[in-house]
Amino acid sequence: MAEIKLNSTSITLEEITGTEGEKAFDIGSLRNETGYVTLDYGLKNTAVTKSEITFLDGEEGVLRYRGYPIEQLAERASFLEVAYLLIYGELPTSNQYEDFDHAVTNHTLIHEDMKKFFEGYPQRAHPMGVLGSMIGALSSFYPDVLNPDQNQNDIDRTIHRLLAKSATIAAWSYKNSIGHPVMYPQNRLNYSANLLYMMFGMPTEEYDLNDKTVSALNKLLILHADHEQNCSTSTVRVVGSSQANLYAAASAGVMALWGPLHGGANQAVIEMLQEIYDDGGASKQNVDKWLDRFKDKESGQRLMGFGHRVYKNFDPRATIIKKAADDVFEDLKVNDPLLDIAKQLEEFALNDDYFIEKKLYPNVDYYSGLLYRAMGIPTEMFTVMFALGRMPGWIANWKEMTEEKQPITRPRQIYTGKNKREFIDMDQRS
Ligand code: ACO
Repeated sequence: MAEIKLNSTSITLEEITGTEGEKAFDIGSLRNETGYVTLDYGLKNTAVTKSEITFLDGEEGVLRYRGYPIEQLAERASFLEVAYLLIYGELPTSNQYEDFDHAVTNHTLIHEDMKKFFEGYPQRAHPMGVLGSMIGALSSFYPDVLNPDQNQNDIDRTIHRLLAKSATIAAWSYKNSIGHPVMYPQNRLNYSANLLYMMFGMPTEEYDLNDKTVSALNKLLILHADHEQNCSTSTVRVVGSSQANLYAAASAGVMALWGPLHGGANQAVIEMLQEIYDDGGASKQNVDKWLDRFKDKESGQRLMGFGHRVYKNFDPRATIIKKAADDVFEDLKVNDPLLDIAKQLEEFALNDDYFIEKKLYPNVDYYSGLLYRAMGIPTEMFTVMFALGRMPGWIANWKEMTEEKQPITRPRQIYTGKNKREFIDMDQRS
């Protein structure tokens, strides 16, 4: 219990404790009882919901989906298995997995009319813009989703469609951007292999899948699959709270993820490394100079891929990705000068007082971009891969919120504009 005293009023706030011991006060009655609201820029101190999906402890570097440690899931599960876990709450039995896998795989094709959409985008269109708008457009092909009273079968079908079709749209947006023919999905392949096939296969020749690359992509997708109330997931919840359909909510999630402070960071990391390389290569002197720039607020530049709103010790996903990346780099015999710069920058930053004091560590995106690059995935597609990975998390959060019938999200504000004033006709304005 906490007591707030405001002038002559005093109210008691109920204490809430999560299953892992996080503590909160429920301020639901604050405004009604006192007339006050809270002001919390960036919602740094605000839990916007209770959730059973993902637990993370930023101080200890812990991430668990439905109780299962991310390290075990990344090592032993498939992406669709993790998607099932996040969305439905339990690991699937083999029968449940078979049904789910079949249901998702069955929906990998997109309506032929949607193929024509690609002709309308400029060739240089950023694939995140294409993905977001086309996911929203899926709702027009399945108008039944506009009915807020859908039954569970309809909801499940939308979930299967969204998971399956977003991968096809993503791969086709890439094919379109390079002027190659689109590759129709191969349902004999698993999700990750199919994605690589649709992105890199050609109708003229056999496409050889590299097992290490497929496995690394599976890991990357799992690591990105959920991260509790991050910017894009909160966006999905905000949009979904108006009872907008799942395609609309997921499309908004894609758009929120696009920003360089969120999912766009993996692209920004590579662009930053390239800029450093172009400026003076991987010499210690050049890397040092850039590190100084990142510490200087006036420069307006940050060391992209470092720092996290929640992880203040280490990002457990970064540790797993670094290991997966090393395996792929070795297997594919990658010799990438940007990797040398990244390793030096990481080492210098981890030993630098500025980064130590501010608790800035490599986040999931520091190495994911280099790994995608080694797989041959172009920079503009990095955030798209992230979006595909995050899709089960968005779906799980949307489902949890709608099942709990949470109220529409409608925050308050503190108005700081002009007080009331009279309208002045245009000819009298100075
Ligand atoms: N490089 C240099 N300085 C940094 C960095 C960085 N990467 N990150 C934070 N700082 C500094 C800030 O300038 C600030 O300094 P101050 O206290 O002197 O003002 C302090 O550290 C705290 O930074 P905030 O932006 O207030 O921290 P917040 O928790 O709000 O931001 C964020 C977290 C946005 C991730 C930030 O660390 C950042 O911009 N990192 C680079 C972008 C990035 O990698 N984003 C991906 C995040 S992971 C994801 O979304 C999947």
